[in-house]
Amino acid sequence: MVRCGSSSPARSSQPANRNQQSATAISTDRSREGRILSVDPKPKKGNASQFFDVLEKLIVKLMRDSQQPREYLSGLFEPLREETPPQPNLCIKGYLPEGLNGELLMIGPNPKFTPVAGYHWYDGDGYIGDLEGLFGLFTGSMHFLRSIFKVLDVSYGWGTSNTNLTYHHGELLALGENDKPYVLRILEDGDLQTVGVLDYGKRLEHPFTAHPKIDSFTGKMFTFGSQLTPPYCTYRVISRDGFMHDPVPITLSEPTMMHDFAITENFAIFMDLPLKFRPKNLVIREELLAFDATKKARFGVLPRYSTDEHNMRWFELPNCFIFHTANAWEDGDEVVLITCRLESTDSMSIAYLIANPFGYKSELYEMRFNMKNGLASQKKLSVSSVEFPRVNDIYIGRKQRFVYTTIIGKRGGIIKFGGNIKGIFKLEPGKYCGDTVFVSSEPGVTCEEDDGYLIFFVYDENTGKSMVNVIDAKTMSCDPVAVVELPHVPFGFHSFFVTEEQLRAQTKV
Ligand SMILES: [Fe+2]
Repeated sequence: MVRCGSSSPARSSQPANRNQQSATAISTDRSREGRILSVDPKPKKGNASQFFDVLEKLIVKLMRDSQQPREYLSGLFEPLREETPPQPNLCIKGYLPEGLNGELLMIGPNPKFTPVAGYHWYDGDGYIGDLEGLFGLFTGSMHFLRSIFKVLDVSYGWGTSNTNLTYHHGELLALGENDKPYVLRILEDGDLQTVGVLDYGKRLEHPFTAHPKIDSFTGKMFTFGSQLTPPYCTYRVISRDGFMHDPVPITLSEPTMMHDFAITENFAIFMDLPLKFRPKNLVIREELLAFDATKKARFGVLPRYSTDEHNMRWFELPNCFIFHTANAWEDGDEVVLITCRLESTDSMSIAYLIANPFGYKSELYEMRFNMKNGLASQKKLSVSSVEFPRVNDIYIGRKQRFVYTTIIGKRGGIIKFGGNIKGIFKLEPGKYCGDTVFVSSEPGVTCEEDDGYLIFFVYDENTGKSMVNVIDAKTMSCDPVAVVELPHVPFGFHSFFVTEEQLRAQTKV
């Protein structure tokens, strides 16, 4: 977590992660009109806990191939043992612009404890395991058994909220798609505190995507949750004042990996893509998540205030997988979706990327869904390999011109698209960056769409150090406006900028 501002402190931190190998007790002390459950973990160390620890060690000893590489636990992914306290005097090359006041946050899965085995980068301390073959079946079953015997209390979810952050209704939320949101508070010195689990007064009973969308015109938040049981997806609308409306089932044929979605002024767009959860695969020594190359990619367009799914229009496009959308809007009879698109999921694993450093096959696409004739079309807007598309968030749901994407590969950077490539900021060899955040040069003031800064974390594999880069979004100049040097920050997922106004609003909560 980094606070950006001319005299502000900084530190790296792990918000909201908790040790899930211990029993977790959550008190019923409710705050904020009963919307937030305060978290008070009380690990149990009884006989049942010891039994499962021994059983797990036995399974790992008998089944785990110790020669198997653990690429998610070394280099940029290496567990960070010590938290760094807030540091007020970081070295800044260049200058932090006058209007750039707030706090830059990054969230990721870096584990606090070294996992026993069967670890995947996405897990954090969640201990979901890599879930492949019989070993995955057994380690996954340990999680279920611990919860059945109350060694692990999953009453309020079992995810890790390690994927993304957002801010709505005066609350900063840490999100993971297999859990409910966790409310965080930013303290005076820039540090983070977990306030509790947000269940909207018991109205939220299913997982909550890591990529909800906020319409800046209405202040409403739109979200969904993917589940392993029918209807497999549920859509929700949350009003400006934080009230969660009734669930809208989105019925799919089987459990589906749906990481993101999109909204327009009048519609919500769901992606039923052929990456499916198939638990039976574990028995036949395959992976839990299976990409079915025989199936089409389906896109569902639903009027965004529908109370049921009867008005959903489904469209088909060639087989693909999508992690992240950029934005969507309406253009006459058509709904337009700008998104990064993977031809297949082959290039998604770290092992593959180590062997093929330039092999992440993700491109920017424009997709169009005609609400009148039911036809869909798509066209490629970029070459490989770009991911984490971001726009000026004020334009979410409305037509925007510019998309900023991260270059995935041995030499990272940011590309600005606007019809064609408008600028490329390229890092030096050996430097990588995560997703970028667009921050308006004067938040809250109307200005040109690209009048602002792109801010992103950079990792230097040559020195092991990290930094934050601030670049000019309008010019995409190769000279950063500012480079803030940091202690080592492990590789994370998504970044978020909390504005000064949002910081002030949260103190009223
Ligand atoms: Fe994501």
